[in-house]
Amino acid sequence: MFKHAIVRTVSKNFQYGLTSSKLGKPDYNKALIQHSDYIKALRKCGLKVLTLETDDRFPDSTFVEDTAVVNEDLAIIANLGATSRKGEEIEIRKVLDKFYENVESIEKPGTLDGGDVLRVEDQYFIGISQRTNKVGALQLKEILKKYGYSCILVKLKEVIHLKTGLVYIGDKNLIVSGEFIDNPLFQNYNIIKVDEDESYAANCIRVNNYVLLANGYEKLINSISSLGCKVLKLDITEFRKMDGGLSCLSLRF
Ligand code: GLY
Repeated sequence: MFKHAIVRTVSKNFQYGLTSSKLGKPDYNKALIQHSDYIKALRKCGLKVLTLETDDRFPDSTFVEDTAVVNEDLAIIANLGATSRKGEEIEIRKVLDKFYENVESIEKPGTLDGGDVLRVEDQYFIGISQRTNKVGALQLKEILKKYGYSCILVKLKEVIHLKTGLVYIGDKNLIVSGEFIDNPLFQNYNIIKVDEDESYAANCIRVNNYVLLANGYEKLINSISSLGCKVLKLDITEFRKMDGGLSCLSLRF
């Protein structure tokens, strides 16, 4: 069970962050409301939420998930792959130092974004992406091995981060979209395929007894509900405009 979440309030410079979407400029005030609703949802799941102040030096800094990999044993500080995001992890390290005895880090020339790291029980999938290089992924693999976790590297073709299109919600249920659907690595799981027109919604999160899902993607919402999961739907439109999703907005541990 997760007990804590760390989030960061949306930067006033949010609109200048990295994005490949063609959905237009995010509405800052709407983003603040959506972020606040996200925090309420995490609290409903039973988490104690630590909200960090906005850091306007970093437009993408609300996407805290990329700054670290956290589990019940340790925190691993990322070395973010995008130049404009390098440095976001510095303050996160100070925060995680207060929660963890064991804190390790990815060092250059390794790069790694937390969004490329998916935990499935005691195994991790690590995406090799535009942000995470093989050196960074292998560093993470070595660190996690010391704590009893195994890792499998997955080369990404299209999506920005692994968890953009691949998410585990427990009980062998893997949410799979796009380039991951036919990948033999995932065939031993109960695959919940996400249709192309709903691919954005693949980035959902299981938080204790709930699955948080983007509002408006009824096919996936129905598929996940039919597994017996309790679903919380959230409006996340302004974060989608900046290539962000539900997982990106928090570190959960
Ligand atoms: N805008 C989120 C990212 O590209 O890292």
